Amino acid sequence: MIDLQLTDKTHDEERQGEALVIDAPLVRNGRKLYIESYGCQMNFADSEIVASILLDQGFETTGDYKEADVVFINTCSIRENAEQRVRNRLSQFGAEKRRNPKLIVGVLGCMAERLKSKFLEEEKLVDVVVGPDAYRELPQLLSEVESGHKAINVLLSREETYADISPVRLNGNGITAFISIMRGCDNMCSFCVVPFTRGRERSRDPYSILAEAQDLFDRGYKEVTLLGQNVDSYKWKGADANEDAEIEVNFAQLLEKVALISPDLRIRFSTSHPKDITDEVLHTIAKYDNICNYIHLPVQSGSTRVLELMNRTYTREWYINRVDAIRRIIPGCAISSDIIAGFCTETEEEHQETLSIMDYVGYDFAFTFSYSERPGTLAARKYADDIPEEVKKRRLAEILLKQQQTSLFRLQQFVGKTVRILVEGTSKKSDKDFCGRNDQNAMVVFPATEGVKAGQYVNVHVDRCTSATLLGTVVN
Ligand code: 5AD
Ligand code: SF4
Repeated sequence: MIDLQLTDKTHDEERQGEALVIDAPLVRNGRKLYIESYGCQMNFADSEIVASILLDQGFETTGDYKEADVVFINTCSIRENAEQRVRNRLSQFGAEKRRNPKLIVGVLGCMAERLKSKFLEEEKLVDVVVGPDAYRELPQLLSEVESGHKAINVLLSREETYADISPVRLNGNGITAFISIMRGCDNMCSFCVVPFTRGRERSRDPYSILAEAQDLFDRGYKEVTLLGQNVDSYKWKGADANEDAEIEVNFAQLLEKVALISPDLRIRFSTSHPKDITDEVLHTIAKYDNICNYIHLPVQSGSTRVLELMNRTYTREWYINRVDAIRRIIPGCAISSDIIAGFCTETEEEHQETLSIMDYVGYDFAFTFSYSERPGTLAARKYADDIPEEVKKRRLAEILLKQQQTSLFRLQQFVGKTVRILVEGTSKKSDKDFCGRNDQNAMVVFPATEGVKAGQYVNVHVDRCTSATLLGTVVN
């Protein structure tokens, strides 16, 4: 996850419509694509695949939808409010389309997959609906629209990983980039719509992952984040590099291979699943300095009974055992979490168990949500969404408050110390400041210093902190 953000509205999984623009125009056909992405990092990575496919067709990107020929919105279905946000945005695009009837409006991603042709019925101004596994078909689908038809492809695939498509890095800082290592999810957590919208889990071949990481490094990138819904279940089987034997590669081995590209390339990854994270992965992280000491390990609930209803397939004790292993094998490793308040039938005592596991772990960050029933999921079919909204809100507020206190406590541990950070660029708040993250993923802000530029590793003495940021000065 990217930022420490403590309200459920701003969770990274629900990043709001950022328009993605390519810095350098290529050889073009005069047509302009505007693409806006919502939701998880995977969606942002997918938008870079989509842009790559359309750039190959001669499109260029624009940051202003009013000058676009094609407007795409890459959508998120994870919670109801994420979908509502997309609908609101679509009505703005609709107004633009009334002004400019030639404008093509397309819905991509999870909402496209969830609602399929219903989308075309519900949102008359939408021309094309494309699910996450059908982006290769975009050029044909756009031709259909141009010949006067509505177009849709929401077929899910068991193989598609877009391994051969080299994503164009949109809106990037030129320093950090995402690499998708797998797609889909086979876990079937009962609250979650992802297995329905993104299909079966499949791992991308390691050679194309390594080539992508190497290429990024050669172009000056200094950090890659390996992305998957459940990276610990990464598994690939196929021919070795010389094509004379069959090999199997698991996540620990993949991590190691990426880490070996260069000690100057930092590796992050997300998301880890408590049931699958192995000691082998933890030892690999401990072995390489350039694999960041930061694990996003969503707990969802601290109650074994609720975890069972959620179909998370681990108990409170199992989760604690994994945290103990992290503390033992990688001392000082930061841990973050996703937590859901008010899942079906959750009692007050079970909510207290969530608060107590938060105390036990002492999360560095947490993304917190109140339960939102999603149509078609196991929970929607089996359990009543029976916790009143005010109770969910109150429980969520208690979780948030605890996390704020713990985050502050965690960051205070760095005050007075010197941390090594990768400079990402100027700070969002002031161009007189630079920012970057330390190994544990804490954001560090410091006054711009002569000779220091984006992409460098520097040591910063931490003078003070807020509950979200470390503030300091560069030291040699
Ligand atoms: N309601 C609330 N939160 C959810 N998440 C997934 N589905 C739901 C839902 N129906 C949260 C989980 C997951 C994160 C990405 O989003 O905490 O880890
Ligand atoms: Fe959803 Fe669970 Fe898969 Fe995460 S692991 S995407 S919460 S089903």
